[in-house]
Amino acid sequence: MAFVTRQFVRAMSSSSAASAAAKKIMVKHVTVIGGGLMGAGIAQVAAATGHTVVLVDQTEDILAKSRKGIEESLRRVAKKKFAENPKAGDEFVDKTLSSISTSTDAASVVHSTDLVVEAIVENLKVKTELFTRLDKFAAEHTIFASNTSSLQITSIANATTRQDRFAGLHFFNPVPLMKLVEDTPGFIVNRLLVPYLLEAVRLYERGDASKEDIDTAMKLGAGYPMGPFELLDYVGLDTTKFILDGWHEMDAKNPLFQPSSSLDKLVAENKFGKKTGEGYYKYK
Ligand SMILES: NC(=O)c1ccc[n+]([C@@H]2O[C@H](COP(=O)([O-])OP(=O)(O)OC[C@H]3O[C@@H](n4cnc5c(N)ncnc54)[C@H](O)[C@@H]3O)[C@@H](O)[C@H]2O)c1
Repeated sequence: MAFVTRQFVRAMSSSSAASAAAKKIMVKHVTVIGGGLMGAGIAQVAAATGHTVVLVDQTEDILAKSRKGIEESLRRVAKKKFAENPKAGDEFVDKTLSSISTSTDAASVVHSTDLVVEAIVENLKVKTELFTRLDKFAAEHTIFASNTSSLQITSIANATTRQDRFAGLHFFNPVPLMKLVEDTPGFIVNRLLVPYLLEAVRLYERGDASKEDIDTAMKLGAGYPMGPFELLDYVGLDTTKFILDGWHEMDAKNPLFQPSSSLDKLVAENKFGKKTGEGYYKYK
């Protein structure tokens, strides 16, 4: 039950009135919008911590894929957590899955939810359109949160009438394994991580080193679990491009935010990384 409530109190702590209101909120029902890499993980973690969850995406096919991914991920968690007691592991998986239902119509499910976590495409217009619509259907007490990596929360919240119940709740990929959730304005991790990833791409584009050598160097020399190109493919090249383009638009002269020809080309070819089977690397 707790992960969301605690984060919400932190997110709203700048306003004493809001934190007083936050203390009274019991988050039981969560709606997660977007069943991709992040949304599926958020739904899994919310369900595994005792919430009932509705996962929303655009088509039944996408939702079936998300559900399958959640089940596989839960089985991996159960195998470790209940290594001594596989029956308890199976029960954990079944119970968690039974707390997750799915829908292709967010407006029809948000009336009975305490918290909406949005994890759709990193595009301000698409996000604001969604929240403006949901604002009309959600209950008065419902808190809205966006998992945006780079957009200003106030720009999204301003599209609703609930700026005092709107939070940034930035999970990390893969959600079930990563312990950090940021609610800090400006998001520390991405502000440092994305320029680092793009510097690696520029190194490769200049022909200074191969992407394989750059990945090996950062894994062996800096102790990172993945090299920058492996991580770019894992995060999603479309998402990285959305972040970079948004920052470039805000601060066009900043050398850290300059577009990358190889990233633009791969995204134009729908090669988004692991999720589409090809990015900087190819996947089976
Ligand atoms: N990928 C990462 O490592 C990462 C990390 C932290 C935060 N984020 C942020 O999380 C959000 C989602 O990223 P992702 O990597 O999960 O993307 P993704 O492409 O894997 O998934 C996005 C999902 O949203 C669905 N969608 C799009 N528009 C929708 C709508 N109007 N209604 C319902 N569903 C809709 C798509 O069908 C897709 O399944 C983005 O804002 C991104 O910046 C991503």
